[in-house]
Amino acid sequence: MDLLLDINVAVDICTKRQPFYDDSNFAVAKCILDGGRIWIYVGSVQTLEYVTRTELKLIYQKAGKQVSARQLEKNTRDVLKELASDKHWLASLAHEGMVFDSVDPEDEQLIRSLSRFTTGAIKLLTRDELLCERYPDLTITPQQYLQTLSQHKPIDFIDLKTQQDHIRPALEKNIHRVLHHGQYIMGPEIKQLEERLADYVGVKHCITVCDGTKALLIAMMALGIKAGDEVITTPFTFIATGEMIALLGAIPVFVDIDPRTYNIDPNKIEAAITSKTKAIMPVSLYGQCADMDKINTIAEKHGLPMIEDAAQSFGATYKGKKSCGLSTIGSTSFFPSKPLGCYGDGGALFTNDDAFAKTMREIRLHGQDRRYHHPIIGINGRMDTLQAAIVLAKLDIFDDEVKARAEIGTRYTELINSALSTHHSAPVLITPHIEPHNTSVYAQYTVLVGNREAVQKKLIAAGIPSAVHYPIPLNLQPAFAQLNKPAGSFPVAEDAANRVISLPMSPYLSDYDLQAVSYAILEGIQQ
Ligand SMILES: Cc1ncc(COP(=O)(O)O)c(C=O)c1O
Repeated sequence: MDLLLDINVAVDICTKRQPFYDDSNFAVAKCILDGGRIWIYVGSVQTLEYVTRTELKLIYQKAGKQVSARQLEKNTRDVLKELASDKHWLASLAHEGMVFDSVDPEDEQLIRSLSRFTTGAIKLLTRDELLCERYPDLTITPQQYLQTLSQHKPIDFIDLKTQQDHIRPALEKNIHRVLHHGQYIMGPEIKQLEERLADYVGVKHCITVCDGTKALLIAMMALGIKAGDEVITTPFTFIATGEMIALLGAIPVFVDIDPRTYNIDPNKIEAAITSKTKAIMPVSLYGQCADMDKINTIAEKHGLPMIEDAAQSFGATYKGKKSCGLSTIGSTSFFPSKPLGCYGDGGALFTNDDAFAKTMREIRLHGQDRRYHHPIIGINGRMDTLQAAIVLAKLDIFDDEVKARAEIGTRYTELINSALSTHHSAPVLITPHIEPHNTSVYAQYTVLVGNREAVQKKLIAAGIPSAVHYPIPLNLQPAFAQLNKPAGSFPVAEDAANRVISLPMSPYLSDYDLQAVSYAILEGIQQ
């Protein structure tokens, strides 16, 4: 949790005012130590300076110390500068000004500024008892704060709130820039993002698009995939993968998965190739790339292009190279819960091929090559400028988050496996297998259990959210009934669909959280 300093607490700290200094100072220091941030409201500056100066004057008088007005001014500024040196400034929004109906306009401004953060992410640190009475959920005294330190916040399945609060200044700056220039469609942020993403992945071209589903559609349209063509893919994926093949009138040809990575089994691909096959589309599931070298070799041998559905693996590496840059076209999603997500829908395409890049750019813009001239059929597939501005802010911390995700994934595995090793009759609980040549971004931390329903119940009872990715393989989805691939067609995928369960995952999980989840799942498998 972050804290916003009320003037009284700020002055306690600046002037070492007794008897409040110890609690106020300790609460602030502890908050910073625990990863929280301390904010000072921009609108408080004048009062803060005035009260600090008055308080210092009093202290000097009591001590019989003669200090000139200039010196007092300087000392006041010095202590305030020191206070602000490791704090953050919370600036006002337009609605924070209209507070004159309130009992105390200045306090009202402070309280309103808290709404910039998600609920519970910040409180006003104050010693004002009346304010605490009026706003019990938004305020906390230094003493109360110190008492709450042993309590833990509930675990989210994906914690986007902490991330948002972490990058708020950059987010606000970027969003405001878009509001100012007003180019909501194809604004300058689109080009900026495309350059940064292409650079990140290490490919020549990035084309941002409206979502990861349309990214797949645009990629296949650019490859000329049409009705009656076949596209080889995995049945163990989100519906979009197969759905976009079918939308073009083409036929998804499913190939069963590798039981350890849950990605398409390269050894089974060649048997599925026919004269109608026009592309291979592996999915890098849960944040780990499929075995791209092996699949590329097969694709090259048969003269087939490849699309990596990297909706879940942006940021992952395969033999040192980044996901999205490993085949003819890489396609990703910026759905909010993805490792790199926006605040709505978004996606991107990547390629080193100049001709495909040009075609994909055109398809994204209604097949247009210049204004109102449409040589090919396309779609409205653009990403919003605002979403690009948000991804740009998130990109600044993405490397740190990818690192944290990998560490959290490894730690989960360590915790679970070391507890499992003490069991005599080991029940089924299989942690993710990451190939030695891969790094995973753990879009999901997904384990396989023997008794999923019981485990889910145990996790619910412990207040720990979970999800199933995915409970029905695509061949068993009613929408694909015409493919006539009944139960038993893809035994590995079907078995995984019955037994996998995803645990909370985000770069901001604490070790306490990981231990709580690991403990609950170990309890669950023994039901
Ligand atoms: C493997 C896979 N492909 C495609 C998509 C579609 O992405 P979007 O939701 O951005 O359309 C997703 C999103 O969940 C996905 O996980």
